[in-house]
Amino acid sequence: FSIEVITAGDADEVLRFLRCFFIRDEPLNHSIGLLDGKETCPELESYSIKGLDSGLNLKAVSNGKIIGVCLNGILTRGYLEEIEEANCEDKKFESILRLLDHVAVQSDIFSHFPDVDKAMVVKILSVDSSLRGRGIAKDLMNRTRDLARELGCGIMTADCTSHFTARALKKLGFECIYSLNYEDYKVNGEVVFTPETPHAAVTVYTQRIVK
Ligand code: ACO
Repeated sequence: FSIEVITAGDADEVLRFLRCFFIRDEPLNHSIGLLDGKETCPELESYSIKGLDSGLNLKAVSNGKIIGVCLNGILTRGYLEEIEEANCEDKKFESILRLLDHVAVQSDIFSHFPDVDKAMVVKILSVDSSLRGRGIAKDLMNRTRDLARELGCGIMTADCTSHFTARALKKLGFECIYSLNYEDYKVNGEVVFTPETPHAAVTVYTQRIVK
């Protein structure tokens, strides 16, 4: 397979891919039944393909077909001040965004790297379910790290809702700077997410980008 930069023309294929291999089976989406009999979650689709042609997003391609995607973004110091409480039509999707905002505030990545102002963040990572466990996610994130270096990012980071993302990043030498067990995350006294084993915690893995 090859790894290529995603362009605006890939939008339909990327969405078709995410419907099969992310919207349905990312551990939190699966745990709360995000689809609940529906075909898709329009708000997650919009979130996913926002800025698709930024030049930061990568696809793994085999025989002309997408087999993996890594959708990325740039964070700059101070971004936490702009976070507003998520309000969505889809309350399940809203609960995921609120968890991610909580993790962003609690992990406060830039406080761990006082000399860094710009970070590459992996927002959505997904590999064809028939091809998992072969290093495709690791390759996509390795290439994302190359992009981060070219763009002058001081660090790369990811909120790993899946144990397998965390495992891949650990193998790439990333360090866990924050971990929150799903059983400890409560809203109004209730646990919100109960994903299947081995997805026990959301973790933030971060690495300094060596020039
Ligand atoms: N069972 C056991 N181990 C597994 C499995 C599995 N089902 N799947 C992956 N792994 C292991 C791999 O062997 C590897 O560990 P190793 O280096 O010790 O061998 C590690 O987990 C993952 O490495 P890759 O093979 O590079 O990952 P893969 O290409 O399988 O993709 C991904 C991982 C993207 C998380 C995939 O499982 C997936 O698409 N899941 C559904 C969507 C999802 O959960 N996305 C991530 C959410 S977090 C985020 O988006 C930032």
